[in-house]
Amino acid sequence: MKKIVALTGSLSNPSRTRTLVETMAHRLALQWPASVHVIDIAELAGELGHSVSFQNIPASVTRAHQLLAQADVLVLASPVYKGSYSGLFKHFLDLLDPNALRGKVTLLAATGGSDRHALVLEHQLRPLASFFETVTVPSGVYARDSEFVNYQLQLPEGVHTLARIDVAVTQAISLLLYSELEALAA
Ligand SMILES: Cc1cc2nc3c(=O)[nH]c(=O)nc-3n(C[C@H](O)[C@H](O)[C@H](O)COP(=O)(O)O)c2cc1C
Repeated sequence: MKKIVALTGSLSNPSRTRTLVETMAHRLALQWPASVHVIDIAELAGELGHSVSFQNIPASVTRAHQLLAQADVLVLASPVYKGSYSGLFKHFLDLLDPNALRGKVTLLAATGGSDRHALVLEHQLRPLASFFETVTVPSGVYARDSEFVNYQLQLPEGVHTLARIDVAVTQAISLLLYSELEALAA
């Protein structure tokens, strides 16, 4: 079965970013049948924070790296921390083989306290995804804290985010179908 793997960079549990990536992954899986897996940096944070070398990566982080490498589709997401993704989100990816994500269709998402840093999607997350040579979906998804109640997206506040998720999912499916056709033609 195909695999959708989401990576969420929040250090909090519960987490709005986790809710957002789960919503995106499950909406994609409704139209493109696949299993959904979430790698939550909050769950890896203790061991990840102590890992400073490629020679000494803990088993929990290695397992998460392997899961990411096995994905057919990625969702990369982080809350905005000081205008960027979280430090441990980047640290997790710093320890990953640079070739592990090449060619994977990738949705991008972020959450923040206001709209001020919504371009974190374009200025921080997309270049990082491009470093790994992923194929990023054109529309990123950004949600503000005021769209969530008890860490769940609410209507009507989150209506534009839900619409945006559906646009991103449609774009992801087009890219997936294209790559499946390319593979058939090869
Ligand atoms: C350390 C820290 C730094 C933050 N910096 C920003 C910021 O620069 N811009 C912003 O819009 N929100 C900022 N926030 C707010 C979070 O991005 C926002 O509350 C987000 O929804 C949290 O997601 P979570 O519930 O998944 O942890 C910051 C929060 C923390 C804890």
